[in-house]
Amino acid sequence: MGPKAGGEQPKLPIPGVQNIIAVGSGKGGVGKSTIAVNLAISLANLGHAVGLLDADVYGPNVPLMMGVQETPHAIGQRIQPINAYGVRLMSMALLNPGDKPLVWRGPMLNSVIQQFLRNVDWGELDYLIIDLPPGTGDVQLTLIQTTPLTGAVVVTTPSDVALEDARKAVNMFEQVREPVLGIVENMSYLEHNGERIYVFGKGGGARTAEFMKVPLLGEIPLDAKTREGGDSGRPIATVKEPNSQVTLFEQLARTVMEKAEAMKQKQRPTITIAD
Ligand SMILES: Nc1ncnc2c1ncn2[C@@H]1O[C@H](COP(=O)(O)OP(=O)(O)OP(=O)(O)O)[C@@H](O)[C@H]1O
Ligand SMILES: [Mg+2]
Repeated sequence: MGPKAGGEQPKLPIPGVQNIIAVGSGKGGVGKSTIAVNLAISLANLGHAVGLLDADVYGPNVPLMMGVQETPHAIGQRIQPINAYGVRLMSMALLNPGDKPLVWRGPMLNSVIQQFLRNVDWGELDYLIIDLPPGTGDVQLTLIQTTPLTGAVVVTTPSDVALEDARKAVNMFEQVREPVLGIVENMSYLEHNGERIYVFGKGGGARTAEFMKVPLLGEIPLDAKTREGGDSGRPIATVKEPNSQVTLFEQLARTVMEKAEAMKQKQRPTITIAD
């Protein structure tokens, strides 16, 4: 898989959006949406203007996780995102509520993704977080071939199968020359009576990050309250009382900000002044 034959199409930035960060994974069910939602809220908690695009058009879960059921309205031709916990949200689940599945093929899918990126009134954003569907399919390609990402965050669990797929996801982004900000290891361990139980193995995320020469952005443990927060529409990152999981998500947000800033410095063209 590589850039389209016949030269690359120009990638168009989204006006007013400073950083576009895609959250992907090779394997499904590793916690992309959970990470995307809590990362977005943590960035908003730190005072940033944040948008969250649920690009999983076939299995959109983000509105449920964010406790949003409102139907978005349009002003002129622009769809207005829904505000939740200080984050501007857009998802197919808001436009196609209920259990009716969507069956779309490539071109239609492409146009839906473009509309989400360009016809939603995101306004001025410091960060647009994009929750991708699992794997390396059409949505991911459409997105990365048309939109300049600041970088991708690849989520994995420490299990060998998830790590194998995480390497594929990292390779996909690198093949189309979209930078990878790093890997997040999710479900790293379970804390029980002060001890850590490594349910899916230990240190796989760190080893994979080292092997792929990308940073390890964080290790997020398995935590019942994190699962409950997602299912109840009140993500753990909204909790105000001191909580170790909230602190870890805040740290993750700070690390992602740092890596995004460093990536932008690297991408900025150097201007040489001839005399
Ligand atoms: N750190 C965690 N602790 C406890 N439960 C978690 C954690 N991360 C994710 N989960 C739970 O695991 C399940 C799958 O997570 P999630 O939906 O975020 O994965 P996903 O990678 O987005 O899945 P899909 O590939 O289907 O989009 C959810 O029930 C979620 O609440
Ligand atoms: Mg998901």
